[in-house]
Amino acid sequence: MYLSSRGDEVAVVDNYFRRRACTELNREPLFHVPNLHRRAALWEAVSGVTVKVHIGDVCDYPFLLEIFQQFQPEAVVHYAEQPAAPYSMMGHKEATFTITNNLISTANVIHAVKETNIDCHIVKLGTMGVYGTPNIDIEEGYLEVEHKGRVHKFLYPKTPGSLYHLTKAQDGDMLFFYCRMWDIRVTDLNQGPVYGLETAESIQHEDLAPIFNYDDIFGTVLNRFLVQAVAGIPLTIYGQGGQTRGYLNIKDTLACVELALRHPADAGQYRVFNQFVETFSVNDLARQVQEAGREMGLDIQVQNLPNPRREAEHHYYCPRHVGLLSLGLNPHYLNRTTLQEMLSKVLHYKNHIQSELVLPKVTWQSAAI
Ligand SMILES: NC(=O)c1ccc[n+]([C@@H]2O[C@H](COP(=O)([O-])OP(=O)(O)OC[C@H]3O[C@@H](n4cnc5c(N)ncnc54)[C@H](O)[C@@H]3O)[C@@H](O)[C@H]2O)c1
Repeated sequence: MYLSSRGDEVAVVDNYFRRRACTELNREPLFHVPNLHRRAALWEAVSGVTVKVHIGDVCDYPFLLEIFQQFQPEAVVHYAEQPAAPYSMMGHKEATFTITNNLISTANVIHAVKETNIDCHIVKLGTMGVYGTPNIDIEEGYLEVEHKGRVHKFLYPKTPGSLYHLTKAQDGDMLFFYCRMWDIRVTDLNQGPVYGLETAESIQHEDLAPIFNYDDIFGTVLNRFLVQAVAGIPLTIYGQGGQTRGYLNIKDTLACVELALRHPADAGQYRVFNQFVETFSVNDLARQVQEAGREMGLDIQVQNLPNPRREAEHHYYCPRHVGLLSLGLNPHYLNRTTLQEMLSKVLHYKNHIQSELVLPKVTWQSAAI
């Protein structure tokens, strides 16, 4: 919607994996999201522009190749991966699905670009989670290493903290490999957790809102806190709550993708941007939600739970993020107004909340808790 409203001709491909997984695992989003055909028709009605919809699997190469041959994209934004860390840690079925889906989809996008237009710029959504929490500053993609008097620039070392994050490190390695082999153009957007329930486009109709999960598998931390605040259950902090990450508003993620598209990588360049605008610990987020909610009359408690993940709960965290700012990103920062707008929207759907979905049920230790 964002790109088409700016004059780009857009086609989308989705196989409804996310919706199917939510249904199968009984993790329904806070509100119903109509199917893509209906959303495209609705978007056309409110904006006057058409988005072509293809329902199918990016891992199905003939299907994907035909779309590339017909549509002839100048650029492709590769979102089509299994995006949930807890899902990837559930068991063998989910682990192997995550590996297959995330790596084959990436390989297929690369091959489709090679077969149809080697200059087609691939913008792949990566994650800040590939870096882990090293005890030195995190650079933007690369690290210059001096060893025995000689210097070389390597991809920044990756220490992912879930199988999902591992596949995002591996798809990045694959893209870097093909940049070197075939001179493809790639931008990897190492994104932090996204928050926000609306964009300038989505607010034009209730049925255009982005999917909003608040459960233990697909819900990100701020989403879970907002729903817990509204439901009157304590905000559940995993462990000590010092886990710090880089966050961004959904409006900024769209702006970042656009900036990457308007300034393509060079032939053979594997360009990496760290895509977030500010860092918070889990404790910071809980405090901010508490303060914003209290002004709205919500009584919000906090509860520390045993951490279902294996991760540092207090650590150094200093990631660099200058590339997108230098291209012109104008960030939206998390503030009380934004939090209260999100809380108001969640309040609107309060009677949909299934409180039992929020508590963690997947552990990194291999047995369900
Ligand atoms: N949301 C975040 O906070 C966040 C943070 C960092 C990175 N990311 C990355 O951004 C991308 C989008 O994430 P999201 O949160 O919007 O998740 P999402 O699940 O809403 O989006 C991914 C979409 O891809 C589709 N999909 C998955 N596999 C597919 C396949 N094989 N063929 C066709 N469609 C397929 C899913 O049905 C879904 O609609 C992912 O690659 C994710 O790793 C997201």
